[in-house]
Amino acid sequence: LNRLRLEAPAKINLFLEVLSRRPDGYHTLSTVFQQISLADTLHVRHDPDGPPATRLKTAGADLPVGPKNLVVRAADAFRAAGHVLGGMSFHLKKGVPVGGGLGGGSSDAAAALKACWSLSTGRPLRRFPAEAFIKTARGLGADVPFFLRGGTALGAGVGEKLRPLAPPRKTWIVLVFPRVFVSTPWVFQRLRFPLTKRRSSLKIIKTLSLARSPREWTPFLFNRLEEIVLPRVPAVAQAKRALLQAGCLAALMSGSGSSVFGVVASPREGERVRERLRSRDWDLWLVHTCASNS
Ligand code: C5P
Repeated sequence: LNRLRLEAPAKINLFLEVLSRRPDGYHTLSTVFQQISLADTLHVRHDPDGPPATRLKTAGADLPVGPKNLVVRAADAFRAAGHVLGGMSFHLKKGVPVGGGLGGGSSDAAAALKACWSLSTGRPLRRFPAEAFIKTARGLGADVPFFLRGGTALGAGVGEKLRPLAPPRKTWIVLVFPRVFVSTPWVFQRLRFPLTKRRSSLKIIKTLSLARSPREWTPFLFNRLEEIVLPRVPAVAQAKRALLQAGCLAALMSGSGSSVFGVVASPREGERVRERLRSRDWDLWLVHTCASNS
C-alpha cells in the first residue's frame, strides 16, 4: 500500500447560528454541516524509506504549495503528533472553489490526515479512527474535524464538537460560486453582540432525517452570517435572488460565503434552474447531498 486516491468533498451549512465571541477571537456556533458531491481529488504517494518530507503539486487553482498549504500542514501535523511517516507526495486537483464557504481547504486537510494514517499503518481508509484525530484536525482549522467523518453533523464549540445526524434523503442542490472572495474573519468581526432573536437548530434537525421531501425542512434553513454578507457583497445577494427566481425551493449562503446553494425538488428541476442561470458570470454546479462513507 503506497499509493492512494481520495476524494475530498465539499460541505454546505444548512443551519448556522453564532452564539458568542470568545476571548481568542473565535466564535462559538451551532451549525448543521452537510457533505455534498462536489469534491477535490487527492493523489498520494508514500515512500516509507524516504526522508520525512512532504511535497505538493496542485492543479485547477492557484494555491500556495509550501508550508502554508493545509495539505502540507496536515502531513506535518501528523508527523508532529509522533506518527512515523516517510516521504509523502501529494497531487491535489481542485474541484471546489477556493474561498467559497464550502470547506474545500479543510476537506483537503482531513483527506491528507486520512491518507497519512492509512499509508503509514497499512490499514484501509474505511477503518480510519476519526475520534483519535479530532485535536490534530482542530489545530488545522475549525471545519477540519467535520471532514474526518463527513456526512451530516451538528457542530458546536467553534465547529469541532460534533454530533453525527441521520442523513436526509438524497437532495439535489444548485450551487453558485459568484466568483467573489469573502474573508471569514472579516465577516465574523462585523457581528454585533448581543445578537437579537437567536435561532435554534432543533426544527431543522428534527425534520431533516424524517422528511420525505426537502419542502419539509427548507423553511428552517438559516445562516446568521447572511445579514453581514448580503448587504455588503452585492454578488452574493444577486446569486441568492437569482436561485429563488429560477425556481429553487429555498436558497442560502453557505458558511461565511461567497457560495450560495439552492435546494430543488428533483434533478430535472435542478437542470432547469441551471439552464436559467447559465449565461451569468459565475460558476454553477448541480450536486447532491452525500452520507458519510465511514
Ligand atoms: O479555523 P479557520 O482557519 O478555518 O478560521 C478562519 C478564521 O475564521 C478564524 O481566524 C476566525 O477569524 C474566523 N472564525 C471564527 N469562528 C469560528 C470559525 C472561524 O471567528 N467558529
